[in-house]
Amino acid sequence: MKLDITFTMIKPDAVAEGNAGAILKMIEAADFKVLALKLTRLTPGQAAKFYEVHKGKPFYESLCEYMSSGKIIAMILSKKDAVKEYRQLIGATDPAKAETGTIRKLYARSIQANAVHGSDSDENAEIEANFFFSSLEYFN
Ligand code: CMP
Repeated sequence: MKLDITFTMIKPDAVAEGNAGAILKMIEAADFKVLALKLTRLTPGQAAKFYEVHKGKPFYESLCEYMSSGKIIAMILSKKDAVKEYRQLIGATDPAKAETGTIRKLYARSIQANAVHGSDSDENAEIEANFFFSSLEYFN
């Protein structure tokens, strides 16, 4: 059965700059339900594991350093077609290419410090959600 969930992180730049509330407001205004939410900080090892798929890319080391540089907010969101809908709400990875009105257009600082993460597939949404939360948490 398709879960219709996506996983997101509000990244260290956005949390540190006090943009988490505004971003959460946009998420709720777009009719996503927050199923789980956690304010936490990744260790460099956890960041390396979470972004393992990017290992070997030129930005990998710097990304892991940045993602463990401050607090993040991890969330599981639900909505019909959650992955696709959320990627539309956040906009392109590179804020210079993100559409007007998207979260990244409004709050991202750079292609790396791009305010939020969003899962790229249903399969990865589940893997990423389970990285931060026990599966029971998001059905309660
Ligand atoms: P995210 O959606 O979390 O998925 C992978 C992350 O890698 C991406 O957002 C950016 O933070 C980062 N990233 C992707 N491409 C680049 C790049 N060319 N240079 C630096 N960071 C990148």
